[in-house]
Amino acid sequence: MGRVNVEEVFEAKLAKNDFIEPKDWMPENYRKHLIRQISQHAHSEILGMLPEGNWISRAPSLRAKLVLLAKVQDEGGHGLYLYTAAESLGISRDEMLNALLTGKAKYSSIFNYPTLSWADVGAVGWLVDGAAIMNQVMLQRSSYGPYSRAMVRICKEESFHQRQGYEIMTHLSFGTPEQKAMAQDALNRWWFPTLMMFGPPDRESPNSENALKWRIKRETNDQLRQRFVNQTVIQAEYLGLTIPDKGLVWNEAKKAYDFSEPDWAEFKNVIKGNGPCNKERLVSRNKSHKDGEWVRAAAAAYGKKQMEASLAA
Ligand code: 3HC
Repeated sequence: MGRVNVEEVFEAKLAKNDFIEPKDWMPENYRKHLIRQISQHAHSEILGMLPEGNWISRAPSLRAKLVLLAKVQDEGGHGLYLYTAAESLGISRDEMLNALLTGKAKYSSIFNYPTLSWADVGAVGWLVDGAAIMNQVMLQRSSYGPYSRAMVRICKEESFHQRQGYEIMTHLSFGTPEQKAMAQDALNRWWFPTLMMFGPPDRESPNSENALKWRIKRETNDQLRQRFVNQTVIQAEYLGLTIPDKGLVWNEAKKAYDFSEPDWAEFKNVIKGNGPCNKERLVSRNKSHKDGEWVRAAAAAYGKKQMEASLAA
């Protein structure tokens, strides 16, 4: 089939909302765009285990510990689905991990903030996983088959994550005055960093135009951010908590909230590696990668032995 046909086939598949599969022809920049986004998404899941992981040993009850353990383990699994989806585009796991461990690859800015109290674990589940769901439900309709299917599986588990966070915030907000104050303090610190998760404003998003053209993204950063604010304000009201934004006001004409923009200078600084926890996160990730060397070696040796045995049979 001549080159012009493969491009037409690719465009026709996009136009019909058909999936692009690993074996299909695809423009090199489409492949690169996906490798960038999916590998960073995978890194985010793995790094996302750290802020909450340090509260597993300090959970206030056995039930809370079990629930948090399950959530953190889920995030590890999400990372594996996404690394596998990225590998189907021709990049190796080692290449992706090396980009992360050497600080070359990005991961979600949100995970560079500290979890200072148990209420932060609630705020992360409620807000961060809530924002992730908003984004990932949209990505279920991504044009790349393996990415879309990974999203379907991940979204099912994310809803449990958001529920467990909101349950913690509910427990605290209807608890003692000190507990409610702890919940409000967490909301104050996590609100704007969560809005940054959706990416820079559309006007400053270099990747969105292609992402929308190739139906990798189906909505823009600002559209998802707006939908997240609209949905979350009522949840905060139920808790009796105050969203820390004086610019937040209902706009009847647009049937949505007007709200203040996050501090984009802070955002740029965090993704440059200068956030509160960037260094600590990479040190921790590098340590666990090094500590896990023997597991990888043992698994590789076992796999090699199995392969030799099956070839010899
Ligand atoms: N943190 C770090 N980097 C970010 C970012 C963020 N919150 N938002 C944007 N960026 C980076 C982009 O990666 C891009 O840099 P690059 O070209 O070097 O990769 C640059 O800022 C410009 O942003 P764009 O909007 O042009 O880039 P995208 O079109 O890729 O949009 C995105 C950014 C919305 C994050 C998109 O990549 C996306 O939807 N990714 C998949 C979802 C994802 O990664 N979510 C992260 C959280 S996962 C999570 O929360 C797990 C949950 O279980 C807790």
